[in-house]
Amino acid sequence: MKKVCIVGGGAMGGAIARRLASTREDLSVTVCETSAAVRESLCLVKGLAVTESLVDVGGCDVLIAAVKPPTVRRVLEQAASLSIGTVVSVAAGIPLRLVEAWSGKASARVMPNTPSLIGEGMSVVSFGGMVSEDQRSVVLSIFEAMGQVLELPESSFDAATALSGAGPAYVYLLIEALVDAGCAQGLTRLDARQLVTTTFTGAAAMVQQSTEHTAVLRDMVTSPGGVTIEAVGVLEKLGLRGILWEAVEKAADKSSQMAQ
Ligand SMILES: NC(=O)c1ccc[n+]([C@@H]2O[C@H](COP(=O)([O-])OP(=O)(O)OC[C@H]3O[C@@H](n4cnc5c(N)ncnc54)[C@H](OP(=O)(O)O)[C@@H]3O)[C@@H](O)[C@H]2O)c1
Repeated sequence: MKKVCIVGGGAMGGAIARRLASTREDLSVTVCETSAAVRESLCLVKGLAVTESLVDVGGCDVLIAAVKPPTVRRVLEQAASLSIGTVVSVAAGIPLRLVEAWSGKASARVMPNTPSLIGEGMSVVSFGGMVSEDQRSVVLSIFEAMGQVLELPESSFDAATALSGAGPAYVYLLIEALVDAGCAQGLTRLDARQLVTTTFTGAAAMVQQSTEHTAVLRDMVTSPGGVTIEAVGVLEKLGLRGILWEAVEKAADKSSQMAQ
């Protein structure tokens, strides 16, 4: 049985751990977490082993570093002296060459997102030169349990971090704003939430299943002189596209600054 150790059981590490515990009985999963409160809540998850220190783990096939970027170096330098097959860092902005240099192990860099918790995640993956074909398929299978996986060159990571890593926050904000707007039009919060979330998943599924440009799909909803074009006109005039463009640019810049 392959052993996976996740260091840091917070928002991201906790989502990965919970998903693996519920879907991958063939893996032995241990979470290493310094916060007593987080450890306590992870102890309740069936199939997870929880410990305070990485030293207690001894060795593992795959170590996933899911701590905040400033803590990654300390964790990986500690991992260097342990028997570990592949080290995976999910930290924003930490380049693969540093993951390899600090850990001295075969390394991969992954940018997942929090919907991984329910198997609807998007993970972008890049492998370092020391990774064998076997190690590569173990890492891919771990992240495939959490949703879709896309292998990209590391130069695309700042863009991926800004789009899919941080993206759930943008979508939650849009959902919240639309639900509030629906409530202002007299709907109950529960009804508005169902209307908005189903519209998001339905529209996203149509884009995924279609080869058409989104403008063509948008045209299907936007009859001249109709209702939708009134709203689209407001969104265009007030600059929704520009706002999103700048938000993604800022997030990508921040990710690239963190690498320095
Ligand atoms: N959240 C996301 O949506 C997301 C998406 C993609 C990538 N990431 C990446 O995932 C990493 C973790 O982010 P997060 O949002 O999950 O942060 P988080 O919620 O703060 O989780 C990190 C956890 O690690 C614990 N910790 C700190 N030092 C530790 C150590 N030496 N050993 C074991 N545990 C330790 C922290 O405890 P204390 O709070 O007590 O320090 C905390 O519970 C970051 O590098 C981030 O860039 C996050």
